[in-house]
Amino acid sequence: MIKTVEWTDDGVRVIDQRKLPHEEVYPLLRTPEEVAEAIRQMVVRGAPAIGVTAAFGLALGVKRSSARTVEELEAEFEAWCRLMGRARPTAVNLFWAIERMRRALTEARRRNLPLPLVREWLIQEAQNIYREDIETNWRMARNGAALIPDPARVLTHCNTGALATAGGMGTALGVVRAAVLMGKRVHVYVDETRPFLQGARLTAWELLKERIPATLITDNMAGYMMYRGLVDCVLVGADRIAANGDVANKIGTYTLAVLAKEHGIPFYVVAPISTLDLSIESGEHIPIEERPAHEVTHINGQPIAPEGIAVANPAFDITPHRYVTAIVTERGIAHPPYRESLSALAVQPDVAHSPADEGIRAEGVSSPEGS
Ligand code: MRU
Repeated sequence: MIKTVEWTDDGVRVIDQRKLPHEEVYPLLRTPEEVAEAIRQMVVRGAPAIGVTAAFGLALGVKRSSARTVEELEAEFEAWCRLMGRARPTAVNLFWAIERMRRALTEARRRNLPLPLVREWLIQEAQNIYREDIETNWRMARNGAALIPDPARVLTHCNTGALATAGGMGTALGVVRAAVLMGKRVHVYVDETRPFLQGARLTAWELLKERIPATLITDNMAGYMMYRGLVDCVLVGADRIAANGDVANKIGTYTLAVLAKEHGIPFYVVAPISTLDLSIESGEHIPIEERPAHEVTHINGQPIAPEGIAVANPAFDITPHRYVTAIVTERGIAHPPYRESLSALAVQPDVAHSPADEGIRAEGVSSPEGS
C-alpha cells in the first residue's frame, strides 16, 4: 500500500510528492511548522491528505510541547491551528480536520483530563482521522464502482489516488481500483493536469504500479477523446462542495464537465463527506487559491515562457452543479437536486469507527471516537 502520510515516534513521515515519479523520498516532519510548510509547498497535496497531515501536525505539536498546564497547551494549540489554516485555502478538508482536533481538545477539557491524557487524547484523535480516511475511501470506492460499466474507458483529472488521501484507495481513483478488483475491464485516460502535472507524475505512477491499463494525455486532448467516443465516463475528486452541489476541484475540471455534457458522458465526483461545505451556498463563495507564477512559466525548473510575461495561476475552478451527474460519498450516492440529497447524507450518522487506542484504554479513558 502506498503510504502518503504516517505517524511515527519521531514525527510525521510523508512521501515527497514533488519528487515523484523519479524519486521516492520520505522526509520526516518534526514540528507543526514543518508540517504546515510541507502542505503549503505541496510536498503533501490532495484534499483528504492535507486534512490528515494537518491533524498529525497538530498532534505533533501537542506531543512535543513543553507546556506545564492544559491552559498553556491550549494557547499553543490555537496558534498551530491558525498556522495550519493558513497553509492552503481551497480544500475544506484542512479546516474540517482542524475543527475536529479543536473539538477533541474541548471535549478533553470538559472531562477535566490531566495534561498527559490531553496529549494522548489529541494524538488519538489525529490517528482516528487517519484511519477513518482510509476506511472512508474503501466505502466510497465500493459505492462508486457500481456506476462503472464493464468494459469502461474512464477519464480522470489531477491525482485522486492514494497520494491524495491518507493512503490506500484514494477518491475517484479508488473507484477505478474497486471496479478493477470487481473484475471490470477499465482503461483510464489520465489528464496530465497542467501546471503542476499531478496526473502525469502521480496518477500515472500509481496506475503503473498497480498495472491498471492507462493512457496519458495532455489536458487539451480530452475533448478530442470524447469526440472520438473513447470516454465512457469522467471521474474526478473535489476540494470543496457547496450546499447546492457546485464543485471546486483542480483547475481544468470545469472544462471537462462542459465537454462531458456536450458529449452525453456521465460526469461523476467522488468525495468524502468531509469535503462538503454546506455552510457555503454555492461555488462562487469558495476561495480559490492563486499559486506562484513559476508553476506556469517553468517545468521541472526549466523556463518555458519569456521572462516578464504576466501569468494567472488559479489552482482550482468551480464546476456548477448542473454539469455533475452524481456525487459519490462514503454514505451513498447523491443525485440532483443536490441541496436535498447532500444535506440528507450529511446528517446520516457515521458508520463504525476504528477501535479505541489500547494505550488510552489502559488509562481508563475511552478514545474521542469511543466516547
Ligand atoms: O492542488 P492539489 O494537488 O492539492 O489539488 C488536488 C486536487 O485537486 C484533487 O483532485 C482533489 O484534492 C480531489 S481528490 C482527493
